Amino acid sequence: MTEPPPSTFPRVRAGDLTSDLDITAEELRQLLDLARLVKRHPERYRLALRGRILSLLFEKPSLRTRMTFEVAAKQLGGDAILNTGPVGGREPVEDVARNLERWTDLIVARTFSQETVDALARFAKIPVVNALSDLYHPCQALADMQTLREQWGEWRGHKLAFVGDGNNVAHSLMLDAARLGLDFACITPPGYEPRPEIVAKAREFAVETGALIEVTNDLDEGLRGAGAVYTDVWASMGFEHEAAERARVFAAYQVNRELMARALPGAFFMHCLPAHREEEVTTEVIESPVSLVFEQAENRLHAQKALLLMLLDGPAH
Ligand code: CP
Ligand code: NVA
Repeated sequence: MTEPPPSTFPRVRAGDLTSDLDITAEELRQLLDLARLVKRHPERYRLALRGRILSLLFEKPSLRTRMTFEVAAKQLGGDAILNTGPVGGREPVEDVARNLERWTDLIVARTFSQETVDALARFAKIPVVNALSDLYHPCQALADMQTLREQWGEWRGHKLAFVGDGNNVAHSLMLDAARLGLDFACITPPGYEPRPEIVAKAREFAVETGALIEVTNDLDEGLRGAGAVYTDVWASMGFEHEAAERARVFAAYQVNRELMARALPGAFFMHCLPAHREEEVTTEVIESPVSLVFEQAENRLHAQKALLLMLLDGPAH
């Protein structure tokens, strides 16, 4: 037996990205460094994933995630195949996993439940990437951290304030911010706070980096010193039936000119998109020069290319 050739790219030890927790702080930094390189020199990676096929399993709608994974796969020399609908509806999730691993090289899954992503990862021998679940949106957070570094040069010494529902996007941002030394405030209406066990994990990471992780219902407190303000829809996919109730509860948390004025002067505005103008954010703010929303969307492509390279370890070219 000959030794396998050395890895071209740093590896993700867990082999998956079922949540932000699958990658270490070191791997997160390596991934973001690679994402910067891939963005600067896309031509160098044209054949890196030659012959590799991604399975895209989407239980929910998507524009950015689905498109950027497909474009990433193609621009890296591979391809992607989309399958929509419930994962595990016609047959057990473990059978889905054991079929896909025979034909394709990596599974990207957008699911209602985190348990479905975890089950895919448990049963598939190929890498599984969480493309948004009820609990996490790790690919979004990677692109957002890339976007912030482009603006600030580094994360340390800055603060990101998330305003809205303390669910998937907030969780992933908090976990990455804590590991990168970025101060983070999660500002929610009472009853919509992030999961305590995820906050505890972020605070554990923050001990290493010195990042301050705040969870509050108080806008003034959370926005104080923030150089970027982030929001997300009030009713996530799967919660549309609660939209009317949430519109009432979240009204005071709308990101508008007055709310932005409570952050640092010139603070950036961020949103994972899709955005509902005049609900969680005013048109004035999202269309203003401080808005980074399309930079974030663009970086989905570059960050996910880096992720695919690290998970699939494409051959040198
Ligand atoms: N931000 C994001 O994940 O967008 P899509 O739902 O369009 O994929
Ligand atoms: N929190 C939102 C994010 C969409 C990208 C949702 O889950 O619908």
